[in-house]
Amino acid sequence: MKGYFGEYGGRYVPEMLQGELDALAKAYDQLKSTQKFKDELHKLQTEYNNRPTPLIFAENLTKRVGGAQIYLKNEGLNHTGAHKINHCLGQALVAKHLGKKRIIAETGAGQHGVATATVAAKFGFECTIYMGEIDMQRQRPNVIMMELLGAKVVPVKHGSRTLKDAVSATIRDWLQNSHDTHYIIGSCVGPDPYPRMNRDFQVIIGEEIHKQLGSLPDYVVACVGGGSNAIGAFYTFLDKLSVQLIGVEAGGTGKEFGYHASRFPDAEIGIMEGFKSYFLQDKDGNTAPTSSIAPGLDFIGISPELAELADSGRVQFERVNDNEALSAVELLARSEGIIPALESAHAVFYGAKLAKELPKDKVIVINVSGRGDKDLFALAKHFSRKSFGEFLQAEARGYDE
Ligand SMILES: Cc1ncc(COP(=O)(O)O)c(C=O)c1O
Repeated sequence: MKGYFGEYGGRYVPEMLQGELDALAKAYDQLKSTQKFKDELHKLQTEYNNRPTPLIFAENLTKRVGGAQIYLKNEGLNHTGAHKINHCLGQALVAKHLGKKRIIAETGAGQHGVATATVAAKFGFECTIYMGEIDMQRQRPNVIMMELLGAKVVPVKHGSRTLKDAVSATIRDWLQNSHDTHYIIGSCVGPDPYPRMNRDFQVIIGEEIHKQLGSLPDYVVACVGGGSNAIGAFYTFLDKLSVQLIGVEAGGTGKEFGYHASRFPDAEIGIMEGFKSYFLQDKDGNTAPTSSIAPGLDFIGISPELAELADSGRVQFERVNDNEALSAVELLARSEGIIPALESAHAVFYGAKLAKELPKDKVIVINVSGRGDKDLFALAKHFSRKSFGEFLQAEARGYDE
C-alpha cells in the first residue's frame, strides 16, 4: 500500500490534516517526474548546495587502521554542513509549487532548524521554528544562527520542554495554518508522504557514491537518527545484495533506558508522531527517555523504511557509545584532517573497527553525514575543557563590563 513499508509508515494524523497530506502527496507525486522540477532541484543542488560532495579514499586512515580500504563520503561539505539541507531544499521547492508562504519546523539540537531557516531565507518564506525551552538553553549558538537567518524561534514551555513537545507545538501550528504553511519534517519520519519524499531527496548520496567509486563497495556504513542520511546512502544498493549495509545507532553511556538512543533491539512497534515504526517506549507505551552525545541521533523513533529493512535483515544495526564516537572524531581529524559531526563519528568508529577485521581488498564507504563545527561546545568540553572554560569566563566578563 502506498505510504507503507511493509507494516510500517502510514498516516496516523487528525482528520483535519489528512486533506493537507493528500494535497502534499499529490503535488509531490506530480512534480517529481516533471523536467522543470528536476532541473530546479538540480540547479539548487549543484550551485547552492555544493553537490556532488566528494568521495575520497582515506589513505592515512586505511593505513593506520590496517585492513579494508576506507572511503569517506563527505556530506559535511554540503551548504550548512550536513546532509539535512538535501531534503530541506527539496521540500522548500515543493512548498513553493504549492503556493505556500510560510515554513514551520521543530528542532531539537537546532541543526534541522538552521537548515530550515536557511532554505526559508533563500526562498523568501516567513519561517517559525519551535524549540523546547531546555533545548534552547543547551543549543544557544544554533538559536542565534536561526534568528540571524530571519526565523522566529518560539520556545516551547510545556511538558518536558524538549523535542517531543516542540513536535506537538509545530503540529498545532500546522492544524491552524496549513492553508498557507508548509511543515518541513527533518528526517525520513512522520506521516506519508514525508518518509518517502525525504528519502527521494537523499538518495543522491548513494547515487553519487556508486558513480564516484565506479564499482560496488562491499560495505556502506552510516549513522542513524531518524534515518535520512542512512537511507540516502543505502537506497541505491538495496538490490545489490553483495553490498552490506550497516546502520550505526547511538549507544550513549549505558544499556539501560535513558542512557542511549539505540532502537535495536530495545524498541517496540508503536504509532507515534503520525507513523508506525519502532519506538523506544516503556511498558505502558509512553516514550522512553533517550540520551546521546550526538543530538541528531537522540531520537525515539526510526524511519519506517529502515524498520522494514531491519526486520528483513537487509540492514544490520550496530551501536557505538559516546566515548567511542569522541575517539573517532580525534582519529579522523588527526589522520585525514576532517572533523566529523558527532553523529557521523559513530559511523566512523564502526567503519574503522570493521576495516581492521577485513582483508585489504574489501572496500568500506563511510557516510560522513556532517562536519563537526556545530559540535564546538561538546568537543571543547571533552578535548580542551580548561582552556575553553577560561575563554568563556573571559568572554562573559567582557559582557559584564
Ligand atoms: C550531521 C548529522 N548526521 C546525522 C543526523 C541524524 O539524522 P538522520 O538519521 O535523519 O540522518 C543528524 C541530525 O541532526 C545530523 O545533524
